[in-house]
Amino acid sequence: MCGIMGYVGARDALPVVIEGLRRLEYRGYDSSGVAVWNGREFHWEKCPGKLEVLEDRLKRRPLPGSLGVGHTRWATHGGVTEINAHPHFSCDRRITLVHNGIIENYAELRRSLRRHRFTSDTDTEVIVHLVEEHYRGDPLGAVRAAARRLHGSFAIVVAFADHPDLLVGARRNAPLVVGLDHADTFIASDIAALLPHTRKVAPLQDGQLVVARRTGNGHADVRGVDLSGRPAPLHPITVPWALEEADKHGYPHFYLKEIFEQGQSLEAELQGRLDMKRGGVVFDGLSSDVKRVRRVAITACGSAWHAGLVAKYAIEALARLPVQLELASEMRYGDTPFDRGTLLLAISQSGETADTLEAVRLARRNGARTLAITNMKGSSISREAEDVLYMRAGLEIGVAASKTYTSQVMCGLLWAIQLGRWRRTLSADHARALLREARRVPDLVRRVLDRAGAVRRVAKRLADCKDYMYIGRRFNLATAFEGALKMKELSYLHAEGYGAGEMKHGPLAIVDDRLTTVAVVPRDGVYPKMVSNIQQIRSRGGRIVAVATEGDGNARGVADEVLAVPRVDELFSPLVTVVPLQLLAYHTAVRLKRDVDKPRNLAKSVTVE
Ligand code: F6R
Repeated sequence: MCGIMGYVGARDALPVVIEGLRRLEYRGYDSSGVAVWNGREFHWEKCPGKLEVLEDRLKRRPLPGSLGVGHTRWATHGGVTEINAHPHFSCDRRITLVHNGIIENYAELRRSLRRHRFTSDTDTEVIVHLVEEHYRGDPLGAVRAAARRLHGSFAIVVAFADHPDLLVGARRNAPLVVGLDHADTFIASDIAALLPHTRKVAPLQDGQLVVARRTGNGHADVRGVDLSGRPAPLHPITVPWALEEADKHGYPHFYLKEIFEQGQSLEAELQGRLDMKRGGVVFDGLSSDVKRVRRVAITACGSAWHAGLVAKYAIEALARLPVQLELASEMRYGDTPFDRGTLLLAISQSGETADTLEAVRLARRNGARTLAITNMKGSSISREAEDVLYMRAGLEIGVAASKTYTSQVMCGLLWAIQLGRWRRTLSADHARALLREARRVPDLVRRVLDRAGAVRRVAKRLADCKDYMYIGRRFNLATAFEGALKMKELSYLHAEGYGAGEMKHGPLAIVDDRLTTVAVVPRDGVYPKMVSNIQQIRSRGGRIVAVATEGDGNARGVADEVLAVPRVDELFSPLVTVVPLQLLAYHTAVRLKRDVDKPRNLAKSVTVE
């Protein structure tokens, strides 16, 4: 949601900032803008629409200079207009700022800044005027004073005409990372924007500010402080991702490329973690405390919540612990009883989802142990949780989750197996059998991907379908939810995920020949129940697409279309059954000419409520 890119150093700022914005496009946006210091003043360009529109304008009017800020805006306050696009400016145009987040007390602040000349309807503009109000020649002091008066979430980068060799960044409840490379400093919303320049990055902590100065001796001077002005050193990490991960490699869309990467990403999740000798899973760096739990609460949003549903069933089955699964947006305002015997498992690929972050904070305040499953080192959730299990999905650019979903599922399953071992509810032999099955999964996923052409043909035959119901049970209830979510996100068609056993409690009423039901029906413990659920739909005239085990003649008998998947233990089945549904959503979206990598109204990292 909104992308920020700032640069100070020895190079021409504009291409660096534009390239950064391009790599942040996937976060979702509806307008963009840049400002560059030209030695006398800030000059800028901003406009609604895609980055190409901005770039077109910049071709006619290049902005030279080595200090620049840029922004892709996702409108919250005020319409999608040139005036509301960032950067915003102080009254004298000598301070410029870009912002991601929402300022909750902006109306009150705006009233208190009556002397200032406002030009936009945004909440952001109050920040730059507030900085101007506090500015007495000390840029860091002014940003710090302004930040202390803001309620809500912000990641900001500020540039000052009086200090054209310097950028100030600050964040609270919205991500900001600093990229370091000798004389150059980059400040961006996420690592994807930094990869072309450096892999040495320092994610800012919540409530931290950074001041980056170009010194002229070939090295930048970059310092962190907290909101009270005390030193708060940056902790740079070297990210393991290569720049190629941010390229499409010949695929028409990132989303498709990422679907096809799942054999490899799932292999990475298993690498070095399976202890076949002792029959268990090895997780690096977890505290021993994390195994001493009496109950588990799982929280997450969207696809991550679906992965949580698989984890819930697996933990109950293997570790025999009661598990509560709750949407983070509910848990953060609820009354979940927490204590030291409760482990809160928070699942978030970005590690920045506002609701999940708040649920973790709530659980910690109330004494629970906390464990995060996330793909992002240094993210807010990774820092907030006591323990972290890092996914190894690599960089995911498509807004809709694909490989990060299957990685979340795999991590949850491995965690459940090890919890079972710690609690001695799972024997070493049983664990070994499950781990052997886990090892097969990457190749089974590749086998499903080999049949992508068949899924495309099914998508073509479903061209007239506008309403979808996705049904499943037990481990594949999550697949039904996830398949439906993919279909609506990517194709904008109506699709609902439902427990198959619930159909008779209401939804059967909507079944007729215009409704297509996608039934996830692998050979598992609930297979006969699923088959009779499907028959109930079929006898009411509904069209059926079945995701079924290879060679299942029964499923062929009751379904109009079959998407075949290889046989695998039911615990791991969601990892193979979801793949044809990712592809079905993809091909439907392509046929409908949707923006597959950046579906409308959506953002990759949901850092606001
Ligand atoms: C769906 C999707 C979202 C995310 C959700 C949580 O394709 O991507 O539903 O799963 O916004 O995001 P994270 O995992 O970053 O917390």
